[in-house]
Amino acid sequence: MPHYFATIILVVASGLWIARYLRNTVSPSFSAIPNAHFTAPYSRFWLRWIKLTGREHHARNAAHKRLGSVIRIAPQELSVNCIKDGVQTIYSSAFEKTIWYSGFKNYGQSFMFSMAANKPHSERKRMLAHVYSKTHIQNSMTLNSILDTMLLKRFIPQMREWAKEGCVVNVNLENKALFMDVITAYLFGLENGTNFIQNPEEKVLLRKFESFTYGLFWASEFPGLLVSINRLRESILGDLVRYYRVTERLGLTNLIHQLRIPVLADTARCYKSVETFVLDLCQRAKDRMSPSAMGHSSHLTVYSSFRERLEESQTVPSDLLDVTIAGELLDEIQAAHEPTGITLAFLMWELSRHPEACARLQRELDTLGTVRSAQAIDNLPFTDALLKETMRLYPAGLGPFPRCVPEKGAVVDGFDLAPGTIVSSSAYALHRHPGVFPEPENWTPSRWIDATAERKNEMAKWFWAFGSGSRMCIGSHLASRIIKAALVAIYSEYDTFTANSNKVQQIDSLIGTPVDNEIMLRVAKRAQT
Ligand code: HEM
Repeated sequence: MPHYFATIILVVASGLWIARYLRNTVSPSFSAIPNAHFTAPYSRFWLRWIKLTGREHHARNAAHKRLGSVIRIAPQELSVNCIKDGVQTIYSSAFEKTIWYSGFKNYGQSFMFSMAANKPHSERKRMLAHVYSKTHIQNSMTLNSILDTMLLKRFIPQMREWAKEGCVVNVNLENKALFMDVITAYLFGLENGTNFIQNPEEKVLLRKFESFTYGLFWASEFPGLLVSINRLRESILGDLVRYYRVTERLGLTNLIHQLRIPVLADTARCYKSVETFVLDLCQRAKDRMSPSAMGHSSHLTVYSSFRERLEESQTVPSDLLDVTIAGELLDEIQAAHEPTGITLAFLMWELSRHPEACARLQRELDTLGTVRSAQAIDNLPFTDALLKETMRLYPAGLGPFPRCVPEKGAVVDGFDLAPGTIVSSSAYALHRHPGVFPEPENWTPSRWIDATAERKNEMAKWFWAFGSGSRMCIGSHLASRIIKAALVAIYSEYDTFTANSNKVQQIDSLIGTPVDNEIMLRVAKRAQT
């Protein structure tokens, strides 16, 4: 009898496997699409391997160059590297986000970045979009005064010290501290935000945010894992592993680090501290909003405006309001301080390597005189070109940003795709299309100025650093405003220099930080020209 059952189970399992194999191999949807790797029709192994070993975007770019703009990277997954009938189709509102995003939950729930369904997402986005619109950002007196405080009273005086002491500075870390202070002040009010710039010991928290990038592969490829790890770590087993330094004794520390395994590398625990940090910021802002504090300047913050709209919408039970607000604002804090810090760091590094570009920037900044309004800064063509070119070559969010083909199916670049197919694009690969960006590996800011109107139009379509469509970055105008303001404040007074001959490289991952999270520069008072 047991034999009988075992045989049935074996036959059914084999049948299912063969059916899946045949569907994957002969699926009419995919038969004409080239495979990025010979295993792609049968397993996710290749895709996971290139992600784990930090080669995903290089490998996708190389495969697109060989095979064309639509390629198969896993049994039900395609990579798309064209704008017309490609990115424009798959990042429309008909395509929803996939389960991959559930690795980005805060407090165990999905918020704007990780929500899959478009309807609840667009309701939430409407509650926040006004404070990030271009008009609001360009005209916000609050933001002007935040930037004055952070740049002129905190950051630049610190640069003065670095220049005096001639020390070598990790600008990646310092920029993230700057933008953490800017974004928390914007969200919660100047007096409720952080002061990481002037408090070196608080920068430890930035390392905790960074550790999320470290465990990203596991968080996004095996959603739910971080939650289980946290439970494990909080159990007696976690204490025993730590107490007896089991991994060290078994000689596994290095391997664990290489494979970015978060279980024993503290990722889960770090993320808990990050969640507590944001809850504390929210609590501080809430206390200041109490009736006794009405009329206080902090009343007019993103926090208070979002809280009001969320309460009015009655979409969240009142006992979940606090955690919902914290979860949403944690998304924004994370999405804001890291990519802006990284972008400015790469920009400063390129300016340090290209003194002629730095001099051209400084000549342009001199034309501003004392008028440093958001509009005046935004109208500086070379400053704009520097930012665009840096974001093209070093997009802080490389992708993939997967989407799911809707129930009615879709046509992408001429291919009929079945519902449920996963499709995605890579900013890294799009930004390296040689037909649009000649000599794509070169950092050439002037390409954004010298090109013909027609070419500029094409380049703008392929520029994908902020994504596109209904799930495009909500903070793109804020990002440009604060990075440009920092650039003006820094380079009006200072020059920067590379500190050593080390080659700076961007890691190949969703978040394109520099290797080791470091860009080391020296700072000096600007030479008079
Ligand atoms: C250089 C700076 C930045 C870069 C390169 C960047 C990049 C991106 C990209 C590519 C996406 C789309 C992701 C997807 O399709 O899944 C995105 C989404 C998002 N970004 Fe940014 N971002 C930056 C700054 C900011 C800032 C300053 C904020 C502050 C609010 C922010 C908040 C968000 C949020 C909330 C989303 C999710 C939007 C949605 O799903 O509707 N980002 N960002």
